[in-house]
Amino acid sequence: MARDPRYDILFEPIRLGPVTAKNRFFQVPHCNGMGHVKPLGHAAMRGVKAEGGWAVVSTEEVEIHPSSDVSPYIEGRLWDDRDIPALRLMTDAVHAHGALAAIELVHAGTHAANLYSRDVALAPSPICVVGSYTPAQARGMNKNDIRAYRRWHRNAALRARRAGFDIIYVYAGHDLSLAMHFLQKRHNQRSDEYGGSLVNRARLMRELIEDTKDAVGADCAVAVRFAVDELRGEDGIQCHEEGREVIAMLGELPDLWDVNVSDWSNDSQPSRFAAEGYQEQFISFVKSVTSKPVIGVGRFTSPDTMVSQIRRGVLDMIGAARPSIADPFLPNKIANGDIDDIRECIGCNICITGDMTCTPIRCTQNPTMGEEWRKGWHPERVPPRSGNDSFLVIGAGPAGLECARILGQRGYAVSLAEAESVLGGRVTRESRLPGLSAWARVRDYRQQQLNKLSNVEIFRTSRVTADEILEFGATRVVLATGAHWRRDGIARANLRPIPGFDRPTVLTPDDLMNGALAVSPVVVFDDDHFYLGAVLAAQLRGQGLDVTLVTPADRVSAWTVHTIEQYRVQKELLSQGVAVITSRNIRGFDGQHLQLACTYTGRESSLTAACVVSVTSRLPDTALSDALEPRAAELAAAGIVSVTSIGDCLAPSTIAAAVYAGHRHAREFDWPESDAVGFRRELPHLADVPLEERIPL
Ligand SMILES: Cc1cc2nc3c(=O)[nH]c(=O)nc-3n(C[C@H](O)[C@H](O)[C@H](O)COP(=O)(O)O)c2cc1C
Ligand code: SF4
Repeated sequence: MARDPRYDILFEPIRLGPVTAKNRFFQVPHCNGMGHVKPLGHAAMRGVKAEGGWAVVSTEEVEIHPSSDVSPYIEGRLWDDRDIPALRLMTDAVHAHGALAAIELVHAGTHAANLYSRDVALAPSPICVVGSYTPAQARGMNKNDIRAYRRWHRNAALRARRAGFDIIYVYAGHDLSLAMHFLQKRHNQRSDEYGGSLVNRARLMRELIEDTKDAVGADCAVAVRFAVDELRGEDGIQCHEEGREVIAMLGELPDLWDVNVSDWSNDSQPSRFAAEGYQEQFISFVKSVTSKPVIGVGRFTSPDTMVSQIRRGVLDMIGAARPSIADPFLPNKIANGDIDDIRECIGCNICITGDMTCTPIRCTQNPTMGEEWRKGWHPERVPPRSGNDSFLVIGAGPAGLECARILGQRGYAVSLAEAESVLGGRVTRESRLPGLSAWARVRDYRQQQLNKLSNVEIFRTSRVTADEILEFGATRVVLATGAHWRRDGIARANLRPIPGFDRPTVLTPDDLMNGALAVSPVVVFDDDHFYLGAVLAAQLRGQGLDVTLVTPADRVSAWTVHTIEQYRVQKELLSQGVAVITSRNIRGFDGQHLQLACTYTGRESSLTAACVVSVTSRLPDTALSDALEPRAAELAAAGIVSVTSIGDCLAPSTIAAAVYAGHRHAREFDWPESDAVGFRRELPHLADVPLEERIPL
């Protein structure tokens, strides 16, 4: 299709100092759990973004010195010349598609615990190492340290240019860099020319910009990433005060400004807490105080919103991290008029869990993310079919929908049977809960794609039996029937049923999602620890009930630390008046009282409850696989060569894991059985180590 002329403005080139971006799409820095440890995987992922039309593709944070070692987190690394070849892989991959490569040079200051390098952390003034409970402190930097830091940054910029980068960042964002720590009153208690007034606190940032311009400014654009507001009131930088003054002071020094809010949890807010474009109120002033191009972020997936940002003079370029992860081809799809094919980010922050768990990035919407090199998966291309198989996929939840989509795109004949009248399974049910409506995009994107495939037939309201499967005539059967929440309380804290949980006043999340009504006082028992317990507690509180959330963990929704929303989740519950009891297990329920036990001491207490919602674990729905297992001979006689369970009906997990399972089966079902590792690995390359360094002591 032809591009809608309304979007032409997004494809106008823009000059960034000595370089020119071919359009207005800027993939801002994002870490990915591959970084310097898996440079081939990293480069391939960035290359795909460039192929998808982003004019600028950035690295993640890149450490410039061993005293900025954020291990065990895996970021980029540019400590010395030996780090250049790994980064060169990325710039080559990006340049191959006509995009510019940007690098974010970072000294993390007191956020670097230096667990690998064992260097002492650095800060403007003595302070604890933050961001963890590491029992160490950073030392306050003296003038020599400041001179050394400026030298490291300059040398890193020179190395970055040698690695082929076109845009070099000075980073003062997220409360995560020395340049920002010097700016912040609470971090900087110095009394010399680097402390006190804002002019003094901004001195180092000015010097870093000037040093970088001087070192590489003839060939490379110098960008500044700056958090104009920390959303912590007077204790932090605010956009109407120092945030504005910094840009007014330094506005013309760099070639472009990339502005956002801090800290990371405020910047990458999930859809549960912030809508598309949520940063505009903080950053909209920037263009009025600098003539340089301005980039900003806000989970932009709608081309209309993007155009509006540019036309209204808020931004010059559309910055995106998550939208580029969910759909690396977003710019090209807009360029080609394929708006309906955009795989919109759902704002779930599963992508952040890769970094937080030090493993390769993953994405709910885009199962190929992080698999570009190791599995050779491309987000837009699939291999053609390898035979004449026909498929019956049973269950149109996230796994079944994705499996049918990829099988269909490979050219197989696919029948997709769904018991309900609406597709989507758990995605549809959960997206009706407060704050989760954007999650329906997982279903909507796939449904839209399936509608285009004439070789895929969808049967709604079709609860299939084992006999019907045998009669259907497909050669391969895929079971994607999902899972249901257990009633008996078994999960992590309880490996045996909780006495009294067989009462009718104990409800499961499925009961609530199917319309069952809870009564006050209601206790939500969360031994699942992801989002659902807190979401249901908030929903019940919104209905006016007296709600207590009890969890054996030491905080609400403990696993959401990895989606960087835990603080917000707990704050929301407390603000709404949900009572929170942590570190307590449930020993029993007599219909009126819950018997609680401290997870540390075992000390018991009692809590009044008329109703309990048990958010514990799930049981796979295996009725069909159980029914088919003893009928192998009949299956063979019917010409069925495989029956495979995927997603939650095999082992319940995240929606991201279900989509991945569907995608993987559709790509790999025809692989020969093998014990070999099913993906390429990046192993230590000893050949690069000089002989004299290889001799053990
Ligand atoms: C997985 C992930 C990793 C990120 N890593 C970085 C990083 O290394 N450096 C940085 O400046 N910002 C990082 N960010 C923040 C993004 O650059 C961006 O500012 C933020 O996500 C808001 O933009 P979005 O709504 O387009 O995602 C990261 C964001 C995500 C989602
Ligand atoms: S994981 Fe979720 S938030 Fe992250 S890019 Fe994918 S859909 Fe968006």
